[in-house]
This record gives sequence, structure tokens and C-alpha cells, in this order.
Amino acid sequence: MSIALEWAAAHTALASDPKATARSAQELQEQAGQTITAQGIGAQRAMELFDQVLLPATRASDDPMNLAYIPAAPTRAAVAFDTVVSAANVFGGLWEGGAGAIFAENQVLRWLADLLGWPSDAAGVFVSGGTNGNLSALATAREHARRTRGGKPAGGWALACASTAHSSISSAARLLDMDVVMVPVDANGHLTGEALEPLLAADERICAVVASGGTTNAGIVDDIASVVEVAHRHGAWVHVDGAYGGAALTAPSARHRFDGIEQADSFIVDPHKWLFAPYDCCALLYRDPRPAAEAHAQHAAYLDSIDRGESNPADLAAHLSRRTRGLPLWYSLATHGTEAYTRAVERCLATARTVAAAIRDSEHLELLLEPELSVVVFRRPGWDLEAYRRWSHRLAKEGVMLCVPTAFQGEPALRLAFVNPSVEPDAVIAVLSGTMGEPDGS
Ligand SMILES: Cc1ncc(COP(=O)(O)O)c(C=O)c1O
Repeated sequence: MSIALEWAAAHTALASDPKATARSAQELQEQAGQTITAQGIGAQRAMELFDQVLLPATRASDDPMNLAYIPAAPTRAAVAFDTVVSAANVFGGLWEGGAGAIFAENQVLRWLADLLGWPSDAAGVFVSGGTNGNLSALATAREHARRTRGGKPAGGWALACASTAHSSISSAARLLDMDVVMVPVDANGHLTGEALEPLLAADERICAVVASGGTTNAGIVDDIASVVEVAHRHGAWVHVDGAYGGAALTAPSARHRFDGIEQADSFIVDPHKWLFAPYDCCALLYRDPRPAAEAHAQHAAYLDSIDRGESNPADLAAHLSRRTRGLPLWYSLATHGTEAYTRAVERCLATARTVAAAIRDSEHLELLLEPELSVVVFRRPGWDLEAYRRWSHRLAKEGVMLCVPTAFQGEPALRLAFVNPSVEPDAVIAVLSGTMGEPDGS
């Protein structure tokens, strides 16, 4: 036991290795060998293998120069408390099993509900990630429509979203047997009520609309106010996917982009993305939690004695047993205070603006849009996808910076995602200006 705990204590204080990277299963098999044996290999050997073979074959999510996908930057307090949550082994599905821990999680959810401008009876639950959060919210929307509209429409249910919505939305639609109606975005990439209106008027199957509170690829926040107004006029549920961008609700310089969210029906934000919590953690909130309980509460003889008047997280999403994964965020928020979160998110936004300005002013680079949040999308005129890949691989291998190609408006592009307040904008700008002058990415 002490071997694992000592490693965790030491590792929490260490910087991660930017050269750590995935290896093939064959290579890992050769290095790690067979670890599951009849007699066991012993704690010392298992820990050594984890430290020297397995962990180095994972990406350093929190390295300040990891700017690919959506990285992560959990506070040390949150990481340390994740170990405490495991040690406490609380059943967090029902109040009866986890009251104290759920109480603390609920205070965090209340903080988020206040940022959303939601009423005192809003409620939520922490689930494993944005994919489960979106699925659970959309299951609630569909069940609510079934109850309030008197059954399934001919042709089945549909949801509407922009093509820029995260891939987990179409995955949820598939699982829920819903069609996806794609809404064209405006010239700046936003889903708007104006574009939604004719589609909702023409198609009664649409029972839910998904707006992005920060698209993953470009950090664009849809026009939530007009989407809510139109969707509600047509009796459709509005879910806002803020898995990445919802953290910006804490930032006065970006809060206006979310105007209208006060009236949305459900919302998610992943604290493991930009609220400085470790994996895995998604906060799912409902402005009115009753439809969620109608969709998700499980009933069985052995569950009949549960007090349904209490806050039962299992009632609000697709799960029953759950770890109280909101607690690392609770501990970190309680330790540092919410103003520290505002400062950290503002710092990421400022970094994005500084890097975007440097790209705009650079001779070699072209900024593809002004960042709304903390994603910067740009290109290197003259480079094709192969050149981007070569450059990206070289920098990753050398542990200089992780930045992978994407596509923007159908063309290859590069994107940088800033969710780590330790990123030094000057270091990023120096890498871009020092490595992107070559005509072919080599
Ligand atoms: C906007 C958005 N929604 C949903 C998800 C899915 O979240 P998760 O990976 O936590 O399941 C992501 C992940 O990047 C995202 O960026």
C-alpha cells in the first residue's frame, strides 16, 4: 500500500515529461511482459513497471506546451484530493450512501448554477465526461418531449445542432435513436435562432436543440440567446454543451458570449478540461431537475427504501453507482476560492489573445479567426497537410510543443488550445516564429 501512496505523493509534485508518448501494444508487451500472473508480480515490480514503462507511454496532458486537442491542467490540490476520494471510497449514487460528499459536490454545482444565472432549485450531478453528460441531458430532453407531447412523433425524434457541435452529440443521437437535423451556421460560425426557426417550424420531430458553449475545434460560442428564444417558442429543449468552453462563465471578459444561457434547460462543463480538475469529471446541470429524474431515476425492489426527497445524483444521469468525482474540484475551489478560478481562466483567455495577435502580425502565418475563447486557429500559407504533420511530429518528438493539425472551413489548419494558466505566451510565440519559416515544415 505504501509503495503506491508514496509514488502518488511524490508524483503529484512532479512536472510531467513532454516527451512521453504512446507506444505500440507490441512494444509495451515486450517491455512490460505479462503482468497478470497466478502468483502476482508484487507491488514493487508493478509500481516500477507503471513508473518506467506504462506512464511514459501516455501523453503529458498537463505539460504547459501541450496545446493540442483539449489538454488539462489540474491544480495540485485537486490532484492530491483525487487520491483522498479513492481512499474514502464513498458510494456517491444516493444521498443515503454519500450524503456528506454529495453535499460538497452540490455546493460546487450551486456555484456553477449561479454562474449560469439559474434558479435555486436548479440541480446537477458529476458524470464521467462530456460524452455521458450530453447523452444524459439529451435522454432527459427526449423523455420530457415524450411525456409532454403525448408520445413519439411519426418518423421518431430528432435533435438540431450545427455541424460544429461536438462528435458526442451525434453519438448521443445514435444511441437515443434520434435523427440529427443540421442547422447552417452564420458567416462567423455561430448557430443562430434565425437559421433554426424554419427548421423547427417545418419539423415537429425536433425536440431538442444543442448549442455549443465553445466549439472544440475553434472555441466558437453559438448565439445562445436567439437559439433559446426560438427553440422555446417551438417547445424544444435547449442543451448547451460547454464541455470545453463553459469554464469561461467565470471570466468577466467572456461571460457576455453566453448571454441567454440563463434560460437554457441543461448544460455541461468538463472541469477536467478548463476548470483545473483531474480526469474524469463533467458537471451536468438542469435548470429544472424534475424531468431528469423522470428520465433517469431507477426503480427496483431493493431501491424502494431510498428517500426520493433527498438529492440523489443517480437520478439525474445514466448511472447508479458513482464515485464522488466532483470532490477534487470541490477541494481545490474550497482551498483557493472562486476568484482564483476567474484569474486562471482570464489568464488563458489573455494568452490566446496575445498569441493570436502575434500570429496576425507574423509574416509567415495567417490567423483564421479572432479567438472568442481560448482556442487559436491559424495556418501557414504554403504548407499542406503533410507539412503540418511533419512539423507537428518533429516538435512533439523533441518535446518542444504539442500542436496537431486540424481542418477549418474544409482546409488544413493548426489549432492551439489554451486551458493551462502556466503557459507562457512568449514561449509559444518563440516556437512558432522559430520553426515555421521553412517552406515545407521540415
Ligand atoms: C465541446 C465538447 N463536448 C463534448 C466533449 C466530450 O467530452 P469527454 O471527452 O469528456 O467525453 C468534448 C471533448 O473534447 C468537447 O470538447
